[in-house]
Amino acid sequence: MTEFKDTYGPWAIVTGASSGIGVEFARQLAAKGLNLILIARRKDRLDALAEELSGKHQITVKTLEVDLGASDFLEKVREGTDGLEVGLLVNNAGVAVNGPLHKPDLEKQLQMLHVNCTAPMVLAHEFANQMIARQKGGIIFTASVSSFFPVPYVGHYAATKAYGLFLAASLNYELRKDNIHVQAICPGYTESEMTEKVRAKKMSAQAVVKESLDKLGRKSVVIAGLKNKLMVWFMTKFFSTEALARIGGRMMEK
Ligand SMILES: NC(=O)c1ccc[n+]([C@@H]2O[C@H](COP(=O)([O-])OP(=O)(O)OC[C@H]3O[C@@H](n4cnc5c(N)ncnc54)[C@H](OP(=O)(O)O)[C@@H]3O)[C@@H](O)[C@H]2O)c1
Repeated sequence: MTEFKDTYGPWAIVTGASSGIGVEFARQLAAKGLNLILIARRKDRLDALAEELSGKHQITVKTLEVDLGASDFLEKVREGTDGLEVGLLVNNAGVAVNGPLHKPDLEKQLQMLHVNCTAPMVLAHEFANQMIARQKGGIIFTASVSSFFPVPYVGHYAATKAYGLFLAASLNYELRKDNIHVQAICPGYTESEMTEKVRAKKMSAQAVVKESLDKLGRKSVVIAGLKNKLMVWFMTKFFSTEALARIGGRMMEK
């Protein structure tokens, strides 16, 4: 625990900490003794979580109401983190816009691109520079098993998740000489607001986050859970990208 805190503390940012996987990142990092900066739009939820965690652990928790789809998000994050030593950035916030690309408003697709790709990249750029100066730290991107496949009808969402996966794996290579560990955690269906209406079997957010944090510094790409690992291995080993699109498309049409 102390080793984790020494490497990735004293402060961790968790985006999307108002629900689902982000809440669990906050809980498990708090248990490891890191001070937290929780980011999302629903401030009431962040404040309730901050109260819970600072009551349970000897840590300080700050909450920032930030819309990661807005153009001024970086200034708000800078203001809220000024003077704090951020050793871990968890780029977890995300949205999923479903349906064929042309159906939802273009504005919704652009918002998703901003929240899922632009904001995590900008935050990684911002905090990697600070971590390089300290010669330690970590960055986690919440990607997805859909990062590995084209998925017709949620193709743009899957593409945003592929962005996180490839950026994380490349950054891990670039930054390893500076003792900074970057990881893409790739969950399959996981219990959260995003999957409330999905009837498939889901992993708990707790198990996903535990696997991510246990493997931080050792693995830059983590597929959560054995079933998901086997599924990704099998599909990418035996099928071409075109075939995967056909298989995915037919499954989505059912
Ligand atoms: N659940 C799954 O099956 C699954 C599988 C693979 C990957 N993922 C990924 O896991 C991550 C977390 O999702 P989740 O499953 O935990 O879903 P969730 O319960 O819907 O949580 C999404 C989080 O992102 C935040 N968020 C969304 N838009 C935002 C914006 N414009 N500005 C700031 N924060 C914003 C939400 O906060 P506010 O609404 O309060 O702003 C919320 O805290 C996402 O990146 C998702 O793509 C999920």
